Amino acid sequence: MSQQSTRKHVTNTELLAMKERGEKIVSLTAYDASFAHVLDNAGVDMILVGDSLGMVIQGQTSTIPVTIEEMAYHSKIVSRGIERALLVTDMPFMSYPDPHSAVENAAILMQQGHAEMVKLEGGQNVLDSVEHIVSQGIPICGHLGLLPQSVNQLGGYKVQGKEEAQANIIIEDAKCLEQAGASAIVVECIPSELARKITQAVSIPIIGIGAGVDCDGQVLVSYDMLDITFGKRPKFSKNFMLETGNISGAVSAYVNAVKNKTFPASEHSF
Ligand code: KIV
Repeated sequence: MSQQSTRKHVTNTELLAMKERGEKIVSLTAYDASFAHVLDNAGVDMILVGDSLGMVIQGQTSTIPVTIEEMAYHSKIVSRGIERALLVTDMPFMSYPDPHSAVENAAILMQQGHAEMVKLEGGQNVLDSVEHIVSQGIPICGHLGLLPQSVNQLGGYKVQGKEEAQANIIIEDAKCLEQAGASAIVVECIPSELARKITQAVSIPIIGIGAGVDCDGQVLVSYDMLDITFGKRPKFSKNFMLETGNISGAVSAYVNAVKNKTFPASEHSF
């Protein structure tokens, strides 16, 4: 038997087990089969087909123009590069305005995009859609804190949850998502202390991006950590190409840094 075929595929229940045993979950975005293959080989546990593809692949200024057809296409091609990692795909802007359309669009990502979990942004405002999607046997990852699909409402890409009242709403949102059946939650651009409280308050895995080292796992936009970002790299990311000089080395360095809790450091946190 080849070494590769003995690698056990990561599932949503394995993510839960990792949280329980205190093993950090490593996640990165991918948008095509070759990158997905590099990430998978380096030991990334969860590969996210993020709607960040609107910016890093399509060169747009936000994720808002990304369509369900584009997400399904990128998810399908990413799935061909994966052997071990869990494949999570973003539901794009306005693909879950009500429970019925949410299930229809989640089904497109599962059937055409071969996603194994879908991610959507929001808390108590999306609970009906979350419950309906979960009731159809589709695992859900929530997304709280900075919600890129709501950038026009938030007035820009800013750290969220700095005030106590807003922080309490985010903690409550996390508890509600868990109760509605979510399998994991991404928390983006929130103070480290708030992320630590959320991670302790729920039993499902919390995956941070710009949320400090105390989350159950970390995710980054792969193009940011490979230093091929359009414009300025966000403060919470790090150029892993600097220390390694090649893509697979940079991804392995990121995997090790997340697993041994040396990334994110305080300079990548709020
Ligand atoms: O779209 C994306 O890449 C994401 C990550 C920033 C978590 O949602």
